[in-house]
Amino acid sequence: MNSESDHHVTDARLDEVGARPVLVETPAGRLALVRRGTGEDARVVAVDAWCPHIDGPLWEGAVSGDEIACPWHGWRYSLSSGACTWAPHGDAEEAAETEIRVLEVIEGVGGRAVVVVPQGRG
Ligand code: FES
Repeated sequence: MNSESDHHVTDARLDEVGARPVLVETPAGRLALVRRGTGEDARVVAVDAWCPHIDGPLWEGAVSGDEIACPWHGWRYSLSSGACTWAPHGDAEEAAETEIRVLEVIEGVGGRAVVVVPQGRG
């Protein structure tokens, strides 16, 4: 275990995370477990459950490839970098300064999803 990270065991199993995000409670806040990519390149990551635009339910967002789209106003975020990749309605300047956390998820005992939070990012 890396001493520079916190490991948060969730109630969700990794194999439960499919096309739709799974909401989990952790000491690092509410997070959405998301399966990004497809095939052998697919992996589960954890992202902020709330959209940084105006707190929409990002955990109800649609995942497509390497992006998640917020259901409220459609802002899209990279599931690799966390950067906002698209915002409608001329919000480009605000979007360029907006990002979500993207955290590593590993498999724990019993297939549980374990979120790895680097110190200082919780
Ligand atoms: S609250 Fe998510 S795009 Fe507006």
